[in-house]
Order: sequence, then C-alpha cells, then structure tokens
Amino acid sequence: MTPRTDSDSDSDFDFDSGSAADPLLRTFGELYGGDPAGVWAAPGRVNIIGEHTDYNDGFALPMALPQSTRVAARRRDDDLLRLHSAQGDGRITEIPVGGLAPGAVTGWARYPAGAVWALAEAGHAVGGADLHIDSTVPTGAGLSSSAALECAVAVAYDGLYGLDLPGPELARLAQRAENAFAGVPCGIMDQMASVCCVEGAALHLDSRTLDHRHVPFDLATHDLSLLVIDTRVKHDLADGAYAELRAGCERAARLLGLPALRDLPVDRLGEALRALPAELVPLVRHVVTEDARVAEAVVRLVAGDVPALGPLLTAGHASLRDDYRISCAETDLAVEAAVAAGALGARMTGGGFGGSVIALTPAALAPAVTGAVTTAFARAGHRPPGLLHAAPSQGARRLA
Ligand code: GLA
Repeated sequence: MTPRTDSDSDSDFDFDSGSAADPLLRTFGELYGGDPAGVWAAPGRVNIIGEHTDYNDGFALPMALPQSTRVAARRRDDDLLRLHSAQGDGRITEIPVGGLAPGAVTGWARYPAGAVWALAEAGHAVGGADLHIDSTVPTGAGLSSSAALECAVAVAYDGLYGLDLPGPELARLAQRAENAFAGVPCGIMDQMASVCCVEGAALHLDSRTLDHRHVPFDLATHDLSLLVIDTRVKHDLADGAYAELRAGCERAARLLGLPALRDLPVDRLGEALRALPAELVPLVRHVVTEDARVAEAVVRLVAGDVPALGPLLTAGHASLRDDYRISCAETDLAVEAAVAAGALGARMTGGGFGGSVIALTPAALAPAVTGAVTTAFARAGHRPPGLLHAAPSQGARRLA
C-alpha cells in the first residue's frame, strides 16, 4: 500500500524539533537509541451497521475512529523482533522472527508479533525490527484496539520492508494474526476498517470479496454527532460465545445448502426459516435482516439523508438484543436512555456482550443525551460510562 503522510490530530509530533517533542519518539530513543525510521498509525473503529455479518460473507458499514495506535519502528540487520508498548508492563518482548509460531508469544505482544508472523508465513521477506507502540484506542470497549495494533504493525512492516501490499491484503494478514496467532476467531471487518477507511466516510464492505467503497458520512452538515458510549463492560471474543454463534451460522448455511448466509436473499427468509431447527431461526433472521439494513443504510447515506440512519440503528439493536441475544443490561440501557433523550437512533456496536453503544444525535442534544445515559447508569448502579465523539477518520497510514 502507498504510505500516506498525514497531518491530522495523531501527528502531534515533529522529527525536526527533536524527539523531546513527542513521548513516542523520546521513548523509542531511550529504549533503542537514536530515531525510528518512521512512524505509522492505524485506528480503532465503530461499526455503523452490519454486525456479525462479516463471517457470514456479508456486508458491514464501519468507520475509523480518530483514536489510533502509533508505532515508531526501525528495521534491524538481524532477525530479532523487539516490541515495547507504552500500555505494557515496561518490559521489551524479544523474539527472533524465525521463532514466531502460534503460542510462542502471550499477552498484548501476541497481536503485533502475530502480524509479523503472518507476513513471514505468507512468504514476505521480513526480518527484525525495533518497535515502540502507543495507543489511544480504549481497550476492552469493543472499538477494535487489537485490530488497530495488528494493522499498525502490519503497515509499519510494509513500509520498513518496502512490501507495498494492497490494503485488503494487509487486512487479511492482520486478521490471520488474530485468528491463528492470538486465537480469536474474528471476521475481517475490524482489520478492513482499520486499514481501508478514509476521513469523512464510512466503508461499505463486502466481506466475501473485500470489495469496498467509501460512502460520505457527513455529520457536520446535518448538525449531527455520533456519540460512542463505552459501557465499561468487558467482552472477550475468545471466551467461546462468539465462536458458537459463528458455528451456528455456518451450520444454518450448510443446512440451507448455501455457501454462507449472505447468499440467502431477504425475500426468501421466511421460507428458509421454516426449514431450519428452532435454535438457528433467530440467528439467521438477524444476519439476513442485518445485511438488508446495511444496504438500506447505504441508500440513505448516498441520498444524503444522514438522519434517516437513526431508525435503522435502533432496529439493528433490537435484532442484536432479541434475535442474536448478545446485548446486555448496560448496552440496552444506554440505547434506551439515548433514544429517550433525543438520539435519532442507537445501537450496540462490535462483537457484543458489552462494549460500546453508538448514538446518532442532533449535535445540540448531545449534552442532554450523554447526561441522560450517565444518570441512567448511576441510577442502575452501573459504573459511569466512557464517552467519545466519533468522527469518520483516516485508516492506516504513515505519519512520519
Ligand atoms: C468483532 C469481530 C468482527 C465482527 C464483529 C461483529 O468485532 O472482530 O470481525 O464479527 O465482532 O460484527
């Protein structure tokens, strides 16, 4: 991929004024001596609509967040990979690239190490590097901090070793890192969002072909805000529930004689549901209607009718709550309180079982909506939620 030098809010550093200007560069110098060869970044994401569709070969509409993971990196002459994170325990993880294998690295370092492993395993000529990583993507909030980490390292290695891989290829390798190296059976949406999004737009993604297009998502013109409400309930995709849902969808597709649930058109849904065992009915209903909601959301965005997304978001939440059953008390409460306080629509975003809720809100009502959600959480005895304003941001890129 062609690295891009950007000047957005992540670029709050400057090689010319010396490493003291940015803790990322200062720490790199303290750890490894000298300056990095470059700095790369990859963002977290929210998904506007299209949840649990990616591993069904379906459609999604994520956007990148301004929050990102930055990697200061320098190539080494030997095979050693050295990893350090500002969010880690202070230690440097050291491992030869040739020694990377699933299970060889644990903890946070398995995500960046996995990205390097996936590149090497795919036959790309990569060697050692010194990496220092710092992230502003909240962890455990369903905002794809792990994809940001994998993708930032993949794009840094792509630059350091002159690979020039296309974005979807980098996303596939980052997904492989997460699936095979970190042991999380995720789909491709988070990595495609982190690598391929552009500022000001949502990414209309076909998870089967990885075809994607950028659909303008202009909040400001419509005086809208997209609030991200972190319920602070942590989910863990590796805990088995995600894998079970995925297996259920795959079984349903097999029973229907289809390659994937994406191949079931919404107008044949009723007939298909009658042919399935009861426990698979709600799963299939969610996936097929969710693909239809993505298509409808794109139609509305292309028509410039951003406020019309609202009801689709709330309908998507109901489907996750009632059919897919991956909502929880906190996410339901955040959606209800946001909509009652004037949000045009709201839904849980990401893998589920907690994480974050997005609320599309008239900008003037954003303080009322955040206040209502905070008050509702306090009354229910939940921890205070985290709150962010999301703007559709640039995907993975070279910063310096
Ligand atoms: C997680 C996974 C994605 C996707 C979403 C649900 O974020 O990493 O691949 O399946 O859940 O839409």
